[in-house]
This record gives sequence, C-alpha cells and structure tokens, in this order.
Amino acid sequence: MTRRTPDSLRSARWFAPDDLRSFGHRSRILQMGYAPEDWVGKPIIAIVNTWSDINPCHGHFRQRVEDVKRGVLQAGGFPIELPAISLAEAFVKPTTMLYRNMLAMETEELLRSHPVDGAVLMGGCDKTGPGLLMGAMSAGLPAIFVPAGPMLRGNYNGQVLGSGSDAWKLWDERRAGHLSQEQWQGVEAGIARSHGTCMTMGTASTMTAIAEAIGMSLPGASSIPAPDANHVRMSAESGRRIVDMVWNDLTPAKLLSRESFLNGIRIAMAVGCSTNAIVHLVAMSRRAGAHCAVTLDDFDAASRVVPVLANVRPSGDTYLMEDFYYAGGLPGLMSRMPELLHLGAQTVTGRTLGENIAGAAVFNDDVIRPLSNPIYAEGALAVLRGNLAPDGAVIKPSACAPHLQQHTGPALVFDDYPSMKAAVDDPDLDVTPGHILVLRNAGPQGGPGMPEWGMLPIPAKLVKQGVRDMLRLSDARMSGTSYGACILHAAPEAYIGGPLALVRTGDRITVDVPARRIHLEVDEAELARRRAAWTPPPPRFERGYGWMFSRHILQADQGCDFDFLETGFGAPVPEPDI
Ligand code: FES
Ligand code: MG
Repeated sequence: MTRRTPDSLRSARWFAPDDLRSFGHRSRILQMGYAPEDWVGKPIIAIVNTWSDINPCHGHFRQRVEDVKRGVLQAGGFPIELPAISLAEAFVKPTTMLYRNMLAMETEELLRSHPVDGAVLMGGCDKTGPGLLMGAMSAGLPAIFVPAGPMLRGNYNGQVLGSGSDAWKLWDERRAGHLSQEQWQGVEAGIARSHGTCMTMGTASTMTAIAEAIGMSLPGASSIPAPDANHVRMSAESGRRIVDMVWNDLTPAKLLSRESFLNGIRIAMAVGCSTNAIVHLVAMSRRAGAHCAVTLDDFDAASRVVPVLANVRPSGDTYLMEDFYYAGGLPGLMSRMPELLHLGAQTVTGRTLGENIAGAAVFNDDVIRPLSNPIYAEGALAVLRGNLAPDGAVIKPSACAPHLQQHTGPALVFDDYPSMKAAVDDPDLDVTPGHILVLRNAGPQGGPGMPEWGMLPIPAKLVKQGVRDMLRLSDARMSGTSYGACILHAAPEAYIGGPLALVRTGDRITVDVPARRIHLEVDEAELARRRAAWTPPPPRFERGYGWMFSRHILQADQGCDFDFLETGFGAPVPEPDI
C-alpha cells in the first residue's frame, strides 16, 4: 500500500501555499492558540459529532469525543470537532426520518468545505448512523464510524425492561387496566437508565451492527454498551485508526463493494433486524455507487437463507444488547455464520472481514445461537408484492403471530393518523380480530417523512378481549423495537396515488407471507374506476426544507434518499479550489 506524503494531504491545500488565502487560514488557526507543530504535515481529522443536550442516546458523546481526539493525537493527527444535527429519535417531530437526508447533506458538505483529510463519524441513535455514513460516502474522504453503543438493560422492580418493546407491551396492559399509575411511573423511571441507544435490537442496534458488518467500524465496536470502559477504548482506537486510514488513503470507495452491503443485509437478518434497515441500507448502498446498490429482492433472498441467531428482543424473547455483548457481540455472531458472509470484503482495519473475526468466539449459546438452533429458521424480513404494493412492502415474520402469516380479512381503512387515533379506542368501533387495519397517507410524502406509525394500536375493544396481534398495513415505517403483524413501506405510497389510496373499508385483503403476496380482492375494472376518481391531496409544504423534501424524496423501495443526492444524479461535485 502506498502511503501519502504530508505534501499531498488535502488539508495542505488550505495551509501550505505561500499566498494570501493561506496566510488567512494560518493566522486564524494561530488565533485559536495552536502552533504549527499542531497541524503542519499532519492529517486533519474531522470528528462529526451528533451530540446535543436533548439526545440521551448520545449524552456521553460530549466526553467521548475527547477520547477520539486523544486517539487522533496519539497517532499524529490533528482533531477538529464539527458538530452536526443530533436527530434525537425520542424528541424530534414529526419524525427524524424527515431529517436523515439533511444530516447526510450536512455531513457531506461539512467534510467537503473544511480543511480535513478524514472523518470520525459519531452517531448511533436511529437515523444518525445512516445519515452520517451516506454523507461520508458521498464526500469520499477516509471515514470511520464510532457507534454510540447501547444503554444498559432497563429495570423495574426486578423485571428487565427493553427499550420500546416493553413500553408498547406494558402500554397495552395499562390500556387493559392491569397497571396502576404508580407502576406505570416506575416503568417510566426504569426503562432508560444510562446513556446510549435503545438496547433492544431496534433501528439503532441494527444500523450500528450493519455499519460494522459493511466494514465501516472497528470489529466489535457496535456491541459495546455506552457506559463500558471498552467503549472509551474503542473511541480512542478509532481516533488512532483514522489517521492511518488517511495515510493509506483508505476511502469508503476503496473498501465498500456490493459484497460489503450483502454482508450488511445478512447480518441484519441474523440479528433479527429492524425493518428500517431496508430503507437505510438501500439508500447507503446507492450512495456507494451503482455497482454496490442492493434492492428489496436482495433482502428477500437473504431472508430465505439466513436464520435469526441473535436472541435479542423484540425478535428474541429474553435478552438485550448488554447480554449480546457479553455473549461475544457481533464478531461472535459472525463467527457462527462464516459460510453466509463474504469474508473477503474490506474494512476500516485495512484487513478483510474474515481476518477481523478470526478467533472470535461465542460465550453463551442461548444468546447467540448456533445455525443448528436458531430462534427463527428464516430471516427477519419478508418482502411482499401484489396489486396493493407493486413496488414492495415489508413484514417482519419473526415478530408476528404465526396464524396471521396467511390470512384474508376485511379492511378497516384510516385516511390519516389523527383519524385512526381518534377511532381506535372507540368501544363501538366495528372491528374484529380478523380485520386488517389500514393506515394510508403515512409514507415519505404523506407522513410526511414516513413516520413510525406502522404498528397501529390494536383497538381498545379487542385489547380488552385479550387480542395482542392483528394484521396491519400501511405505507409508514415502524420502530425497530416494535413487533406484530405489521405490513409496512407499501410502495408506491397512497399520497402520490399508490394502490393503497384505492382501498375501501370492507374490501377483502389477502396476505400470504410464505408466498410473499399481498392482494386486494377487488377486480381491475373497479380499481380503474376508483383510480380515475382519485384526486391528489394538496402539497404538505409550501416553503422551507419540507418543500424541498416533497419535491425530491424517493419512495421507500429506493431508500428515501433525495434524488439529487444520489451518486449518479449528475457529474461529481468538484473539490472546492478557491
Ligand atoms: Fe435513540 Fe432509540 S431513541 S436509539
Ligand atoms: Mg427507534
């Protein structure tokens, strides 16, 4: 491998020339108290930090960034922290998904416009990982991802609680009248008790596992709990590593391949991933270039051969990310399925995935199952198609009641989230456990931003009868910590005239997961009449970011990137030169 020379560093273009512009750069860095010894001839490392005062998942990043900086300094680099939008899943309305591409744009432009040679990406809470990685792939500088790490297990009165999943479950118990106000407050105070991301296999744990699987994080990084001292060491190690990656010019383009993304998909399946993995991985792979792009079909193919091995909620019924880490973490899991991975794929270590996991072991066979004893024999996700979702819809069979996987029933249609919310607790709602609840206008355009509304609540009337799962269909997403027979991401979405817009209450819908089929039992002539009578709804936004979002957002099956951010949209963006 040829090493770069100090003169050839990108940042040298800012600082080295004997001209007035560079005089300005040098005098301004001296203004901050730095001396030439700090930067001359050294890789300048951007640390893109998604810390904020209102993101509990990244609460430790204010300190952890100092560990990254320490690593950069140890290796002879010069660290520069560049804050980026924090995207706290728990607080941002209507949904962080509205802003994933904004973070991606911000990351790309931060890296492009500043005098930096490489980047450490600090994220974890759901959309931050994909946003940072998408931006870094487009910027093209060497980059390494530092995952925030899962929070500790939840605890209430000796009962282990999992982020999201147990909140939904216990909320149903509360709605059924089984949980007092005092107990509910105890749950509130016990379910999230340290910094770090949701410790179920939600979107955060899924996406950080994927970041590691595609080779963008250090081996084992994604499984380390946020408060663990090993997380501190991993952060410093990532800082040391990026400096060498700059010298070796190990850019995302050099290490990412289609095999990397296929590894990402297979690991997603084996961990019992969040359904959001599909949207993000498709978008990320397309940023890496057409030769890397994966599609829904790649997910469905993987789901038929990769079993769920990680016994982590919500696909598993017992354990959480902390247990997964103690059991060997992601390298342990990978060591259980080498024949299902492309071991030759390159990674940030400068070595292959296979080399990274050599010697990895599993310390608890119940948490990380062997292939011979999976928790679910087929993969975590299935892609359904049919006249209701010609471009695909997604279900997580490992998290839904088996009897609902083949079912025909009448639709109960809600045109939007508020009308669904208003109706669902009505004791007179005309609904049976055999109904299929349909929520539309909740997709990328309709939501807007494709909110996590896809796990529609079971109507209160049925909850009281003991019903805990029923079929639900929408063009929305759902939280990775959700569960149940929810068919999501129906594309194209209703808001732009997709077939979901044509369903009426009482129409019969057939769902057949083994056959990968979803079908509205209404004849084509009638559907054509309904289509002709359909009028497009008014635009969601008339100004601002949302206006741009509405014009450029792609559908779920294409990853919901902005069309103009996709790699092949136009000529590559030139390096800033003046
Ligand atoms: Fe941040 Fe779940 S809310 S990871
Ligand atoms: Mg989530």
